[in-house]
Amino acid sequence: KGRRSMNIVWHKCSVEKIDRQELLQQKGCVIWITGLSGSGKSTLACSLTRALHSRGKLTYVLDGDNLRHGLNSDLTFKAEDRAENIRRIGEVAKLFSDAGVICIVSVISPYRKDRDACRSILPDGDFIEVFMDMPLHVCEARDPKGLYKLARAGKIEDFTGVDDPYEPPLNSEIIIQMEGEVCSPPEVMAEKVISYLDAKG
Ligand code: PPS
Repeated sequence: KGRRSMNIVWHKCSVEKIDRQELLQQKGCVIWITGLSGSGKSTLACSLTRALHSRGKLTYVLDGDNLRHGLNSDLTFKAEDRAENIRRIGEVAKLFSDAGVICIVSVISPYRKDRDACRSILPDGDFIEVFMDMPLHVCEARDPKGLYKLARAGKIEDFTGVDDPYEPPLNSEIIIQMEGEVCSPPEVMAEKVISYLDAKG
């Protein structure tokens, strides 16, 4: 849609991200969980926020479904609106990470260019992409909200994986996959993410 604001000047304050991080004793960052509907994004986000919280870390979850009740309630699931949805969420996540918070985002974010645009507005290393690499048939068999059934019956259009695309990440920092035929418990998935964060300091 392009930027329409003109004649604007950035105003700097004397308290910056580094000061807030020192206060909180943590590094602000964005953990971006992407994947099909029913792939377990929200479950991982909740498990991760709980695990980090219990380690004394300040986190905040931005969930696509939840944000579409408010901030993004004006947007459809057409590609252009999904792009705007992701752009807004990326900007909000950037604010949280600038505040020093570990911001956990769980959104389908089906288009690579939209996810990469969110990565590009953050400092290097602050955008950690987690790909929920679950096969469509598994997500569809779970169908926790009955949406795949409605989509297959033609009652919902532009449904990701059914009649709308999902572009898997090519270089995500973390990939969550099934162990053979079974999915790991959410706590195990959360530990995998935390191990990555620990390794990166
Ligand atoms: S996106 O693609 O990133 O803009 O989507 P997101 O904001 O994450 O919202 C996904 C949730 O919206 C519900 N829903 C749909 N998903 C995909 N396609 C269509 N057409 C659709 N209509 C409604 C669905 O509950 C998604 O939640 P999750 O948690 O992914 O199942």
